[in-house]
Amino acid sequence: MSEVRVRELTVEYQTPAGWLPAVAAASLDLRAGEITGLVGESGSGKSTLALALLNAVPEPGRVAAGSIEVAGVGDVLTLTGKQLRKVRGGSLGYVFQASQNSLNPLKPIGKQLLDLGRSHEVKDLRALIARAKDLANRMGMDGDRVLDSYQHQLSGGMRQRIGIVFALVLNAKVLILDEPTTALDMLSQAAVLDIVRKVHDENQLSTLIITHDIGAVSEIADRLVVMYGGRIVEDGPLLDVLRRPSHPYTKALIGATARITGDVDAARALPGRPPDLTTVARVGCVFRDRCPFAVDVCAETEPALEAWDAGRRRACHVAPSTVFIAPTGTAATAGAAGTAEEPATVGEPA
Ligand SMILES: Nc1ncnc2c1ncn2[C@@H]1O[C@H](COP(=O)(O)OP(=O)(O)O)[C@@H](O)[C@H]1O
Ligand code: SF4
Ligand SMILES: [Mg+2]
Repeated sequence: MSEVRVRELTVEYQTPAGWLPAVAAASLDLRAGEITGLVGESGSGKSTLALALLNAVPEPGRVAAGSIEVAGVGDVLTLTGKQLRKVRGGSLGYVFQASQNSLNPLKPIGKQLLDLGRSHEVKDLRALIARAKDLANRMGMDGDRVLDSYQHQLSGGMRQRIGIVFALVLNAKVLILDEPTTALDMLSQAAVLDIVRKVHDENQLSTLIITHDIGAVSEIADRLVVMYGGRIVEDGPLLDVLRRPSHPYTKALIGATARITGDVDAARALPGRPPDLTTVARVGCVFRDRCPFAVDVCAETEPALEAWDAGRRRACHVAPSTVFIAPTGTAATAGAAGTAEEPATVGEPA
């Protein structure tokens, strides 16, 4: 059963070149009891998608098309005012990117927690505080001390974990975490993801974890959704996608991640740079400038995201079998269109 059904979602930002899509016709489901990992390099539209899920796309942005149905709530994109405030943080718990900087510097954490409870008409505020302390303790902090502290008395990592406590404390059914562990060292990352997994399981949540680090999310997610240039290019059950990436971008992303391949020498940075709104291809496949598999049609027609195997979708003109067999390769070795970071040719003048 899907808690959240996103359909044909397009979000645009106004730029000097006009309104351009940061998320283009994205459709995906978040199912109860599943952790979905949304991955892709910086600029691929992940945070914009997360903001849209809360109907919180900031100016100069707008949702140009689509719907976001949340079970028991309806289409979030049609909500306004009080209804919307209730859903944000209530049915939909969230931690936005860089939200460790979004606490109120003038109030102790505990007071901010009470404000959150009151604004959501929580009757039993004592129980709310007790639950927050318990969550904080389980994330390796001293709950009593943390609730008495001001933001400046806490480290960046602690603030990040407190953001997750705030997202979980109102018993949301859907949890959206945008880069939740970026400010943390590896050990704290593991501890935080561990508690997210436990709370997720206990409450049968639908959880979306957004990260540019496919290695971090590969230890916790059930499903993987891969974005590039505002498009969902592939998704499916986590282990299946890691074993059999069917989109050239997913394959390159995994190949560049030592934590998954277990091979530090083989893991190499993705050649080339991800596009931004103004440089992303408007015609054809958005990945073609960096794709070692590109063929003529890739420059002309955008591939549709289509089901091709149980629980799997991909948007690519070339057959999955071709992507499986050929080596990860780079644009340079495969002889495809060159990229800005292609290695210099031997003998080239300095
Ligand atoms: N407020 C904004 N105004 C204009 N462009 C934006 C704005 N926010 C994000 N973008 C652009 O939208 C694209 C997607 O950004 P974002 O959703 O933050 O990606 P990600 O979270 O995957 O790094 C990027 O090209 C980014 O530069
Ligand atoms: S559609 Fe073409 S350019 Fe795009 S990922 Fe597939 S092979 Fe590469
Ligand atoms: Mg982001």
